[in-house]
Amino acid sequence: MNARVIAVANMKGGVGKTTTVVSLAEALAASGNRTLVIDLDPQANASICLAGDSLLATLIARKATIEGFLENNLLGDKKLAFNECIRNNVSNVTHLNQQLPISLLPSSPNLRHFEQRIIHDLTQRRMSWSEIVRGLSGVVNAQLLKQKKAFDFILIDCAPGISVLTEVSIRLADLVIVPTIADFLSTFGLQTFCAALSDRGLEGARRTPRKPHVLITRRRQVKIHAQTAELLRNEATATKPAFHVFETEIPEAVSIANALSQIDRFPSFTQKWGSALAPLLSDLVREIGDALDANRA
Ligand SMILES: Nc1ncnc2c1ncn2[C@@H]1O[C@H](COP(=O)(O)OP(=O)(O)OP(=O)(O)O)[C@@H](O)[C@H]1O
Ligand SMILES: [Mg+2]
Repeated sequence: MNARVIAVANMKGGVGKTTTVVSLAEALAASGNRTLVIDLDPQANASICLAGDSLLATLIARKATIEGFLENNLLGDKKLAFNECIRNNVSNVTHLNQQLPISLLPSSPNLRHFEQRIIHDLTQRRMSWSEIVRGLSGVVNAQLLKQKKAFDFILIDCAPGISVLTEVSIRLADLVIVPTIADFLSTFGLQTFCAALSDRGLEGARRTPRKPHVLITRRRQVKIHAQTAELLRNEATATKPAFHVFETEIPEAVSIANALSQIDRFPSFTQKWGSALAPLLSDLVREIGDALDANRA
């Protein structure tokens, strides 16, 4: 079967997008899925969490990164294919004594300047924002299609805010996950953001509306989190909801924050995420499968 593409996005920063991508990639891979992570955030947090410092430095030096690929394909003469920038078997994490099957198309801090340059160059050529998004989507999609037989899942970590690359991911994704903290500021504007995501999905390759799925993250046993989570669940059951909400909630836990820094160690998947989170990730993987099936129907 062709790989399913999942974009993880929220205009709000620090709500657990990268944590979701890394933990989900490892959970999917632990269930035997060949998983590709595409990092579209110049902060390169997913890249560093998966590849570690020294490998990432090597990949950036070789320009085996998303902006290396885009630069060559949009501005350069030499056309690098996606697979020349994808690093296979990037994870040190094991499951049942096997290395997790995770590949990475990394990002680098240079991506920020590159995005600015692309937008500048293409607007000089009188292209509108939506023409730029469409053009870039075409370039990325052509390469994604070639990778779809090689992977079961492709996860995209988006930068906070709405960058041109976030727009591209949303157009190309089969499912958009919007991690959020269940408090007032984190959910302020969530409805509008999610409604805009559905519209972008409509402009994409598929013509069916695909509502994003909100994932409640960093959940604490405090009143404000309980109230906001209930509010979100009520909004998701309204007559014309802008989003769905996953049943699974990710708790706030020191072990989760620590897990992200376990790069140069070789833990097993369960050691890394702990006996509390590993089963929750399995629940989330099941829910994601159902959501993808529903989106396809
Ligand atoms: N469930 C959790 N429990 C404890 N800490 C968490 C949890 N989820 C995320 N964090 C911590 O919160 C911080 C932000 O998480 P993360 O980097 O995943 O957010 P993000 O949405 O990707 O941020 P950005 O918008 O900057 O890309 C990190 O320091 C991370 O370790
Ligand atoms: Mg992030």
